[in-house]
Amino acid sequence: KSFKPIKIRVKNIKEIQIGEDLIEPWYFSPYPEEFNDAAVVYICEFCLSYYISELQFRRHKKKCNLFHPPGNQIYKDEIENLAMFEVNGERQPTYCQSLCLLSKLFLDHKLLAYDTLPFLFYILCYYNEVGYCIIGYFSKEKYNMENNLACILTLPQHQRKGYGRFLIAFSYTISKMQGKVGTPEKPLSDLGLLSYQQYWMEAITEVLLKANEEISVDEIAYQTGIDQKDVQYTLHLIGICVYLGQPCIRISNGLIEMVKGSKAKKRCTIKNDYFDKQWVPLV
Ligand code: ACO
Ligand code: ZN
Repeated sequence: KSFKPIKIRVKNIKEIQIGEDLIEPWYFSPYPEEFNDAAVVYICEFCLSYYISELQFRRHKKKCNLFHPPGNQIYKDEIENLAMFEVNGERQPTYCQSLCLLSKLFLDHKLLAYDTLPFLFYILCYYNEVGYCIIGYFSKEKYNMENNLACILTLPQHQRKGYGRFLIAFSYTISKMQGKVGTPEKPLSDLGLLSYQQYWMEAITEVLLKANEEISVDEIAYQTGIDQKDVQYTLHLIGICVYLGQPCIRISNGLIEMVKGSKAKKRCTIKNDYFDKQWVPLV
C-alpha cells in the first residue's frame, strides 16, 4: 500500500492586533512566511494591511488615509452607528485579499478563494468620529445562481452580539431584492451551521405566524429568500411538518414562544429605509 503524505498546516500566527483589540487566531492563514515568528501581527483596522514591525505599522497609521472600506456605503443605521459597504473584488484586490487572509485565521473548514475577482464583499462596520471599523463581513459570488453567500465572519471580539444574524439577514434581503432565493455555500462550519439554523427557524416561523390558513414551501421561500431545500430542512428540524394526507404545518405554542423570545433579544434588524436609495444589487 502506498501512503499519501498529509500536510498538516499548523496555526502560524500567534496574535494579531487590530484597532484596540489583541486577538489570538484560531487557524492557519497563509501570511508571508516571515510572519510565522512574529509575536504580534499588526493590522490596520481600515485598510487591513499587515505588519510585523511596530515601527512600520506606526508609520503606516500616520499616512493611511482610508477611513472606511474601499467601496460604496449601501446601508446606514444612524441609531446603532452601523454601516454596510459593498467592495468589488475586481476593483479592490489588495483590500479583499487582506480581508481573506484575516478571515482565514478564523475559518478552517474550507479552502478560501484568494482570487477575489469573482466576489463582492459586504463589510459591516461600526462608526465613530475617527472612521468605520470592521465588525465582520460576508462574500458573495457575483454570478452564482444558487449561493447568496460564500463566506461569513464576525471578528471574535464582536461575536455573539447578533452581528452574524444581521449579516445572514442582509444576504437574504439582497436575494429578495433580486427576486431570488438563495443558500449559503457548503460546507458550513459548526458555528456557521448553528447560526444558519437559528436564523432559518426564526425567519420561517415568523412567516408561518403571519400566514393565513394555507402556505406552501414555495411561498415561504419567496417571502424569506431562503431556498426550498433549506425551508424543508428547517421544517423537519423543528418538527412541525406533519403529514395529514398531504404535508402540512402545525405551529406549536413552544415555537411561538421561541420566536417571541428571540425577537426580544434582537439588537439590530434590517430596515428598508436605511438602504442607499441609488443602490441596486447586481443581477
Ligand atoms: N455557540 C452556540 N450557538 C452559537 C454560537 C456559539 N459559539 N455562535 C452563534 N450561535 C448561534 C446562536 O443561536 C446565536 O443566537 P443567540 O446568540 O441569540 O443564541 C446565533 O447563532 C447567531 O449568533 P450571532 O451573535 O448573530 O452570530 P456571530 O456574530 O457570533 O457570528 C459566525 C456567527 C459568523 C458564524 C461566527 O461565529 C464566526 O465568524 N465564526 C468563525 C467563522 C465561521 O465559522 N464562519 C462560518 C463559515 S460557513 C460559511 O462561511 C458559509
Ligand atoms: Zn491603513
